[in-house]
Amino acid sequence: MGTMTQHEFIRFLTDLPEEQMKAELTKAFTERYGAGTEEIMMIASPARINIIGEHIDYNGGKVFPAAIDRYLYVLLRKRADTTIIYDDIRFPGALEFSSTETFCYRRENQYANYLNGMLAMLQKGGYKLTSGFEVLFFSKLPAGGGISSSAALEVGFGRAVAELFGFKVDAVELAKMGQESEHVFMNMQCGIMDQFSIAMGKKECAMLLDTATLEYEYVPLVLGDYRIVVMNTNKQRALVDSKYNERCAECMEGLALLQKIKTVYNLCDLTSADLSAVEAAITDECIFKRVRHCITENERVLAAVAALKAGDLPKLGELLKASHDSLRRDYEVTGIELDALADTANAERGCLGARMTGAGFGGCAIALVQKDAVAEFTARVGKAYTEKTGLTASFFACEAGDGAHRV
Ligand code: GLA
Repeated sequence: MGTMTQHEFIRFLTDLPEEQMKAELTKAFTERYGAGTEEIMMIASPARINIIGEHIDYNGGKVFPAAIDRYLYVLLRKRADTTIIYDDIRFPGALEFSSTETFCYRRENQYANYLNGMLAMLQKGGYKLTSGFEVLFFSKLPAGGGISSSAALEVGFGRAVAELFGFKVDAVELAKMGQESEHVFMNMQCGIMDQFSIAMGKKECAMLLDTATLEYEYVPLVLGDYRIVVMNTNKQRALVDSKYNERCAECMEGLALLQKIKTVYNLCDLTSADLSAVEAAITDECIFKRVRHCITENERVLAAVAALKAGDLPKLGELLKASHDSLRRDYEVTGIELDALADTANAERGCLGARMTGAGFGGCAIALVQKDAVAEFTARVGKAYTEKTGLTASFFACEAGDGAHRV
């Protein structure tokens, strides 16, 4: 870090090409923890976007996410004793634990809960930490921004620990551990989509994932003259986890009602053809709307994948718009900020379609934008968004990147 302030150092790191950044991070690591004989391991773990298939990964639906070319980095090295130390370039300060302890959630442990949750899952899987270790994080992902920085942290850290100790944990197992850690450690009843896409992502591809069976197919993300632009509401997110868990509970209620009239394991086993029977069985309008979203969204995913494979980008754009509408009216997870972004984006020339991505209630949206129009698009949408909400959105174009990997 030399004579730079912390802020200057972060800017400097962020702008460096990966090879140089790697060297600088290694230097920062040895400045922080001292030179040592053990190898320093480095893992890059990506953010994800979900192109379509929202809030159905806990209803046995098909989803269509992609890891993107934006990463957080985990550096770690074994210690001779049992001490575990976490530190983060953006949030300096050591958080200390022991490799022999039983890990449990504690509010004061902040981001370390995501890490200790993974260690607890590894221990539960029979993987034994044979020593302590020291860790330094550096993230290029907007925290809490709806592109799953928490899953990137879990999966990246899990991959790093597994490599450091030679645990034979494959990517799917790691993704499942990340999800279970969210359930039991963080009390967030999420689906598998985020952890799966971050663990299994592949450059230039999105993946069609069947969340009922975990079967998946990589689909080349061929967008021709179009780019995916991520639009961050920069809204302070509050109570997302409890609202998320509330939606899960509503879906379970809908499923239980339907199971009285039909053999059905997941809401997404149903199709639009079942909708009138569903409406007759569910008298509560709110629950019916949640179920209708799941059924129609699942169908939109299949239509979107078919459109992409056929090179029909306007059709893909229409499906993105329809997905946002359903999340707004039936699932009610968008809110004024995401609606403002999606509405202004959808009215722009050069944009084929836009929708929220991730859990919603703030966070990010994505738009499919003609590549030469991106600069004008972000300027105009940004201006209109500020006028409507008083907030400042941020934008970046992204491509599909590789899942968590060693660098
Ligand atoms: C969050 C969850 C995912 C998924 C999305 C909504 O990102 O972690 O499992 O449910 O919301 O599609």
